[in-house]
Amino acid sequence: MDIADKQNKEYINGSKTTPAVFIKTYGCQMNERDSEAIAGMLSRLGYRLVDHESLADILIFNTCSVRDQAERKAIGKIGLMKKLKQQRPGLIVGVMGCMAQNRGEELIQSLPHLDFVIGSGQLHKLPETLDAIIANRHKISLLSLNDEILTSMGMHHEGFLKIASCQAYIAITRGCNRFCSYCIVPRVRGREISRSERDVLAEARQLVDSGVREIILLGQNVAAYGLHGDTRPPTANISPFAALLTKLSAIEGLYRIRFTSPYPSYFNNRLISTIADLPKVCRHIHLPLQSGSDRVLQRMNRQYTAGQYLDIVNKLRERVPDISFSTDIIVGFPGETDADFNATRAIMRKVDFDNAFIFKYSPRSGTPAAREKQQTPQKIREERNQLLLADQKIRTAAHNKQLVGTIQEILVEGPSKRNSQHWNGKTTNARGVMFTPSPTIRSGQLLRIRIQRCSAASLFGVVEDDLKPL
Ligand code: 5AD
Ligand code: SF4
Repeated sequence: MDIADKQNKEYINGSKTTPAVFIKTYGCQMNERDSEAIAGMLSRLGYRLVDHESLADILIFNTCSVRDQAERKAIGKIGLMKKLKQQRPGLIVGVMGCMAQNRGEELIQSLPHLDFVIGSGQLHKLPETLDAIIANRHKISLLSLNDEILTSMGMHHEGFLKIASCQAYIAITRGCNRFCSYCIVPRVRGREISRSERDVLAEARQLVDSGVREIILLGQNVAAYGLHGDTRPPTANISPFAALLTKLSAIEGLYRIRFTSPYPSYFNNRLISTIADLPKVCRHIHLPLQSGSDRVLQRMNRQYTAGQYLDIVNKLRERVPDISFSTDIIVGFPGETDADFNATRAIMRKVDFDNAFIFKYSPRSGTPAAREKQQTPQKIREERNQLLLADQKIRTAAHNKQLVGTIQEILVEGPSKRNSQHWNGKTTNARGVMFTPSPTIRSGQLLRIRIQRCSAASLFGVVEDDLKPL
């Protein structure tokens, strides 16, 4: 089931006379959050959400551009909708999100069955766009990027939580000013802007009142929150992001706070000590490294060295001994030598990441790295990808093994999708735990689980006791 989860069933089963919408989401959590906002906005206007394209009057593809593969996947799927539209000419098909922003008019030209293209900056204009298309059946594209996006960022969830019902995303910044040389995000999401603290806190309180226990703060560069787009890393004692974490922590009934993704240079002493002092901030940080070679980091326009990255990890470990790390790595950046790659392998070993997302470099048109002459052959990208995946698999399995026999506090998410006899939860270190539920179990409970066994990727346990029943 896509956006239409169990909370939305009343819409799915509701009146058949209102237009039915199917939303398909590609890419990152920010896109998931945008789809939640789209779902909330449309259902408030009386549209019904459906969980399959064959049931829909309106198909919305919320797309990603970060790698070529993500674009190709969406284009392939959207292409297939041509046949559906031939069978049902009244069907409305639209593309939103990063690929819409990136390819704009070109999409309407190459996929003539599309009715609208709305870029990341114009999401809130969807209702008026649909009205206009229903009235006139002309094609519409909206592609400007401006501060109006704060309107849609502030749109509340209206109960459309894609993840477990006890967890919710809150977008706190949007866009990015860092311009890493490989990355298309600053071009498709625009300049970095932060929502006001008052708005974020109000949204968090509303979510907690409705039963949410874990909030995941989202931003392309989340730790730059409140810095007005200044690209210089903040001085030692300034961190509006840390101030926000402190205020969110004071919300009664909220158990956990996570955030993704922070740029390493923003971890000054203020932020590190705030995290250490706030037990609600989860002991897991997703800290994108990208490469372990200083030469490559510089050419990626990442403003830190491998040594500085390690310093941040060590400082965090000193202040928060039980903290764990995950990361993003790009292999096969233009000109990446064996020595550069080995430096990445070595630092990954040193940090001992719990988890890592390894990406093969994908040239994005318009970015400086795509213009570099010395592109790494596809075969080498593939080989390096496989090597890092294999290294990480061993590390993750070893970490899981160490936990067998320990007791872990988990936040209960809900029944496992694969086997409803089992339920899922996560530790503060973001490790997934599967366990057999007791009859009184509820999503949003904190439980102590004794870990009994593990596989390479998962932990399995039994309930020890209940920490904070709702
Ligand atoms: N090629 C491969 N991976 C990329 N990422 C961003 N741009 C590219 C690209 N052109 C990765 C980075 C980032 C993650 C979200 O996607 O690792 O942290
Ligand atoms: Fe892209 Fe770099 Fe911004 Fe992340 S920080 S979104 S990788 S430009």
